[in-house]
Amino acid sequence: MNRIAKLYIKTYGCQMNEYDTEKMVDVLRAGTQLELTERPEEADIILFNTCSVREKAQEKVFSDLGRVGPLKKLRPDLLIGVGGCVASQEGDVIIKRAPYVDVVFGPQTLHRLPELIAARRDSGQPQVDISFPEIEKFDHLPAAQTSAGSAFVAIMEGCSKYCTFCVVPYTRGDEVSRPFADVMKDVAELVAQGVGEITLLGQNVNAYLGEHEDGDSVDFAFLLQAIAALDGVQRLRFTTSHPKEMTQRLIDVYASTPKLVSHLHLPVQSGSDRVLAAMKRGYTALEYKSIIRKLRAVRPDLVLTSDFIVGFPGETEQDFEATIKLIEDVGFDMSFSFVYSPRPGTPAAEMPDEVTPEVKAARLKRLQELVNRQSHAVAQGMVGSVQRVLVENVSRRDAQELAGRLDNNRTVNFAGSTGMLGRFVDVRITALEHHTLRGEMVTL
Ligand code: SAM
Ligand code: F3S
Repeated sequence: MNRIAKLYIKTYGCQMNEYDTEKMVDVLRAGTQLELTERPEEADIILFNTCSVREKAQEKVFSDLGRVGPLKKLRPDLLIGVGGCVASQEGDVIIKRAPYVDVVFGPQTLHRLPELIAARRDSGQPQVDISFPEIEKFDHLPAAQTSAGSAFVAIMEGCSKYCTFCVVPYTRGDEVSRPFADVMKDVAELVAQGVGEITLLGQNVNAYLGEHEDGDSVDFAFLLQAIAALDGVQRLRFTTSHPKEMTQRLIDVYASTPKLVSHLHLPVQSGSDRVLAAMKRGYTALEYKSIIRKLRAVRPDLVLTSDFIVGFPGETEQDFEATIKLIEDVGFDMSFSFVYSPRPGTPAAEMPDEVTPEVKAARLKRLQELVNRQSHAVAQGMVGSVQRVLVENVSRRDAQELAGRLDNNRTVNFAGSTGMLGRFVDVRITALEHHTLRGEMVTL
């Protein structure tokens, strides 16, 4: 293709998928001149990077496919690909349901996209590759390029926890950590490009166990300290971690490493020990609270966010009250909370479930209202404080204003010039207007 190819790519689901989408663009860009487009009608390649964590997300893909399918009749050269977790779970069923799809690839085979596309064009046959070639993916990705002040670095893939409700271990495979030196090299390259904020990514980052050059394995606490010790790194985040592996070593890192932000996303799912056991989460509500108590002892300003599942099979009113109690006791700034969605092939999908959809919806509403009130209190408590902010964008509402991200992951709007994009500045929080923090820059 001599002219520049246009790529339309749509991402569903988690940050890991957003990371994978960036990598898909990188691998395709390495082989050809490529331009991104927001309009599927003008694209040469249409890719869907899918999510199967809940049924709604999964079905959305098929309705989106149904919309782009007819474009192929107008332009037979158009290439349509499906990647991500739905691809991994469904494989060639996708081609059966949507015969106009050309390539199906999983989260672990996205680096093979150029070859799959070439094979599709050469053979005239749709291509499906949803294998799990271990960590091969990371060895075949082009070096990260970025112009923003913040970047993601994946440190591990997959999940070996097999919570009874979740498809991820089946779609992304078991936990595999990248070697320590590979992660450090990625971070060093980003820092050399001026990136000050690094977010370490993985399904369970604190399960990280990476091979070290001296033959030993190093854990997540070691990795965090090594990255924080790099001069150019100004701020360090990670997502997602699991309560089961929130070790004392990791709590100690919060005490010793100021570059590690005072925000932790620690999914709890439920406050009922009975439900936690049925979910196979590997901790009790008390153990979760004990971790938070220890973390807050060394980081009093720690802001917590979490994931909740409401209406897990057999959840009683009493179980739900235990979740409400946990939320009241701990205090959260935000939650990703959803009604349980049965996923084919997972153990929970076989469990009897007598709670009505109406009851589940009412519980979800109550939970979300409580977290919203807590969130408002967190924001109100910040008014008057001075916060370190990474300037991320020009504000959506007012071009004279900037939007920056705080240590605790909230955003604040304040007056400033575009020259500050990608830089860290100190901002005094002056007000909370509706749900938005406002501030003014502090000149020191
Ligand atoms: N690693 C994380 C952890 O420690 O739990 C979770 C990753 S999972 C992909 C993201 C979130 O999706 C979960 O925390 C859970 O709340 C939600 N989730 C997963 N399966 C679900 C299901 N079947 N129904 C509703 N929500 C689900
Ligand atoms: Fe899913 Fe549980 Fe792993 S929620 S991603 S199986 S920790």
